[in-house]
Amino acid sequence: MDTKSNPKFGFNILLLCLFLKSHISLASDTISADESLSGDQTIVSAGGVFELGFFKPGNSSNYYIGMWYSRQLVSLETIVWVANRETPVSDRFSSVLRISDGNLVLFNESNTPIWSTKLASTTTSGSAQAVLLDSGNLVLRADGSNASTSEPLWQSFDHPAHTWLPGARIGFNTVTNQTLILTSWKSSEDPAPGLFTLELDPNGSNAYLIFWNRSRQYWSSGAWDANSRIFSRVPEIRLNYIYKFSYVTNKNESYFTYSVYNPKTISRFVMHTSGQIQQLTWLEISSKWNLFWNQPRKQCEVYNLCGAFGSCNEVSTASCNCLTGFEPKSEIEWNLRAYSSGCSRITNPQYCNTAATGAKYRAPDVFQEIRFMSLPENNQSVVVGDISECGSICLNSCSCTAYAYDSSTGCSIFTGDLLNLQQLGTGERSGTTLYIRLGSALPLIKSVNANK
Ligand SMILES: *[C@@H]1O[C@H](CO)[C@@H](O)[C@H](O)[C@H]1NC(C)=O
Ligand SMILES: *[C@@H]1O[C@H](CO)[C@@H](O)[C@H](O)[C@H]1NC(C)=O
Ligand SMILES: *[C@@H]1O[C@H](CO)[C@@H](O)[C@H](O)[C@H]1NC(C)=O
Ligand SMILES: *[C@@H]1O[C@H](CO)[C@@H](O)[C@H](O)[C@H]1NC(C)=O
Ligand SMILES: *[C@@H]1O[C@H](CO)[C@@H](O)[C@H](O)[C@H]1NC(C)=O
Ligand SMILES: *[C@@H]1O[C@H](CO)[C@@H](O)[C@H](O)[C@H]1NC(C)=O
Ligand SMILES: *[C@@H]1O[C@H](CO)[C@@H](O)[C@H](O)[C@H]1NC(C)=O
Ligand SMILES: *[C@@H]1O[C@H](CO)[C@@H](O)[C@H](O)[C@H]1NC(C)=O
Repeated sequence: MDTKSNPKFGFNILLLCLFLKSHISLASDTISADESLSGDQTIVSAGGVFELGFFKPGNSSNYYIGMWYSRQLVSLETIVWVANRETPVSDRFSSVLRISDGNLVLFNESNTPIWSTKLASTTTSGSAQAVLLDSGNLVLRADGSNASTSEPLWQSFDHPAHTWLPGARIGFNTVTNQTLILTSWKSSEDPAPGLFTLELDPNGSNAYLIFWNRSRQYWSSGAWDANSRIFSRVPEIRLNYIYKFSYVTNKNESYFTYSVYNPKTISRFVMHTSGQIQQLTWLEISSKWNLFWNQPRKQCEVYNLCGAFGSCNEVSTASCNCLTGFEPKSEIEWNLRAYSSGCSRITNPQYCNTAATGAKYRAPDVFQEIRFMSLPENNQSVVVGDISECGSICLNSCSCTAYAYDSSTGCSIFTGDLLNLQQLGTGERSGTTLYIRLGSALPLIKSVNANK
């Protein structure tokens, strides 16, 4: 066909392109029992604030059911909630989100359920509908129930991802043992739960805590002062400014929630992949998110941000470097600034291996000197005369990965993975010189030198 002589053909192509590019709404805020959402279809909350449908994070080839601010309000794609965080699909056109047995269920390409609201059949009366509210809450209600009088069967506000929106809660329910916590994404292209969480102090001292891998606490908001409505270590969040925080605690539950004084303010808290909690406000004039504050302030205060054998550096542009003789375990993740997988050796230590195989000649392993380091914690103190004795104890102890010697603290031996290393500036507190065991010959150095 001669396309030039047929303007209608070109017009059709244009329409087709528009069709493929933009998200097609179901023209509704609701997925009813006889409706389904697939491909580029979306639902939009009644006031046009939030939209829900399939999205693809960055250059990932995976698709997820997510919720974002409508593009009329926030022109940058900003995902606030993800349903199938750990179970993506690759073809959104043959995957479908629909009501099934009273639950909202995502079926993948082979029609296998891969995510569900998981309500027991006893709590659902058979038919239900999912409604996206202007607050950013996706609620599931029994058909015919009165929205202003009955509790929803399920709501996304009870299953937060990495974003805390006004009106949602962070806390726990002691009756159901349900915890409402924020969990970072693994990386900007993988919404699966990462290592960093924001939780309400389970001991009830009403402070926020940030944890590494749900075990190691590295930041606290400080106690809540109900009169001045601030946290002792977060004075930025003041009453009568932007947010109104409230703390609710009773026999059944304890939680924090907040609202914004000006309902036109578009604001959110995010547990970022950097391990920092961020508070962002949308600036319509410049079409960007303004970082109001983040905590902990210093990137290197995030526990073990750089993973094993990685070193955190407050002054360089990349927060993390691998130690000399090590390289990122996952180049792809490190390029996305997701460092937690850490670094692996370029050359393996030989000394202990040849000893085990009884080889005659054993070239001693080389130790790389790295100055101005803040040391890892898992040290063992050894009483020795001098630094060379300290080094030979490490060399001959096959589990020893590094040592340090200081005339006041003496000899410290480190075994296994070295976690939470930090490179200090030369002008700072001096830090300590750390000696890392490498192979028996100097390795090819490919990675960024943490020494620089
Ligand atoms: C996606 O890939 C392109 C080309 O490889 C690259 O230029 C771009 O920076 C990548 N985007 C992100 C968000 O990583
Ligand atoms: C759908 O999910 C099931 C269960 O996880 C999996 O075995 C199957 O391979 C998936 N189908 C496709 C086409 O990915
Ligand atoms: C829902 O309940 C409210 C308060 O009781 C009532 O005013 C309203 O009419 C009810 N709506 C429907 C659709 O029944
Ligand atoms: C909640 O946790 C407590 C203690 O771990 C346990 O005794 C109780 O049975 C749990 N309740 C529910 C509803 O799971
Ligand atoms: C909570 O209290 C218990 C007992 O006092 C203590 O062992 C635990 O470390 C506390 N947890 C936190 C997160 O402070
Ligand atoms: C996180 O904790 C889990 C369970 O405690 C453990 O199996 C896992 O190895 C930990 N992850 C890291 C990166 O340390
Ligand atoms: C606690 O839960 C019980 C049962 O779910 C309910 O009857 C009671 O009113 C609740 N108490 C408070 C203070 O919410
Ligand atoms: C070794 O660990 C102990 C106890 O964790 C600590 O007090 C000491 O300062 C550490 N020594 C060095 C050199 O880091």
